[in-house]
Amino acid sequence: MFAEQGLPKKQVLELLSKTLNLDSTYDSGYPVSSMSSTPHKLGIEIYSDTMDRNAGRYYTFQGSEQIEHETLNMIGDLFQINHPYGTSTSGGTESNILAMLAARETSSSSIQRPTIIAPETIHSSVEKAAWILGLNLFKTKIDDQYRAIPEEIEQAITSDTIGIFCTAGTTYLGQVDPIPEIASIADTHQLPLHVDAAFGGFVLPFLKALGYPSPSFDFQNPGVTSISMDPHKMGLAPIPASFLLFRNQEPLQKITMNVPYLLGSSANQRSLLGTRPAGPILATWGIMKHLGRKGYRNIIEICMNNTMLAMNRIAEHPKLGVPIQPIMNLLGIQIEGKPLQQIAGAMEHKGWRMALSPIPPTIRMVVMPHLEPDAINAFFDQLIQELD
Ligand SMILES: Cc1ncc(COP(=O)(O)O)c(C=O)c1O
Repeated sequence: MFAEQGLPKKQVLELLSKTLNLDSTYDSGYPVSSMSSTPHKLGIEIYSDTMDRNAGRYYTFQGSEQIEHETLNMIGDLFQINHPYGTSTSGGTESNILAMLAARETSSSSIQRPTIIAPETIHSSVEKAAWILGLNLFKTKIDDQYRAIPEEIEQAITSDTIGIFCTAGTTYLGQVDPIPEIASIADTHQLPLHVDAAFGGFVLPFLKALGYPSPSFDFQNPGVTSISMDPHKMGLAPIPASFLLFRNQEPLQKITMNVPYLLGSSANQRSLLGTRPAGPILATWGIMKHLGRKGYRNIIEICMNNTMLAMNRIAEHPKLGVPIQPIMNLLGIQIEGKPLQQIAGAMEHKGWRMALSPIPPTIRMVVMPHLEPDAINAFFDQLIQELD
């Protein structure tokens, strides 16, 4: 009910806080499957100070536009490209939709049944994109490490194919598809290749210096035509913040919509959304400037150490296992002897906030910065109680 008479501020805040107690916040350690975390303090500060900035009206907010441009270039630098073209978006879903729109708009209009090829492990937002854009999505088989099989992708290419999608940091296991091989296929067939690095984009570039294997995924591979990555995941930016980067200008031009009543750069709309917050973009810029590569490396080192702690706990119990050695701070937990749904239900009842991955069936654990050793140990202590 929307009352005629308003309530005093104090009462409103009390009512709100009572209901928000139902939220499982990151600082509780309970969200074990989330790809977002408590944003970096500087990001919160910047966002709070810039709530009124509209990234859909860059002619009004020209400073914000400049910051978006600088952020795009910093991410381009991280992904080894000097002059990226692109846009900020609201998240990995929107970035994938736009990447697919670009594939559709740059393809020949005479194609009968425009089709995107992607491995089975592609994120569901790619299915959503195909659904929205009226395209066909052909899924290819994966190998025993849950990676795309390049030969399967090549065999699936027909005269209807308009693009290939693959992932650097899959949602289910944090796996990285063999991008150099797929890029070479895309290049040979002159097809766009989009790399969804929504999660991995802020992890993979830092792994090598920490002594972990770091599969190649970025613009160094000539066949990679676009990459998406989400600062609101491992970039520690407040939501909603994602970026879509193109190697060339043409696909960006093809997804630019002219808004007739707006002036200057506001008239060139690239994102799906019109009015949208610039704050998370400005926050991303601030956090990247403040942390530098070294700061991110330190955070990822802690997350990887905590991932190894989780791995040790899994190794200690005969009924627990993992389908692959984790590549990044994301793992799937296999359980012997009891249905995963039942265990997840019991753990949810204890307060943990979980997600179940389908390929292969596992409990998904994303070792974000809020998942500290105490929370990880408490999680496994309670999980083990459910196994007998
Ligand atoms: C690989 C990948 N791509 C895209 C997305 C979608 O991101 P968002 O929820 O920010 O739209 C996710 C979300 O988990 C993801 O893991």
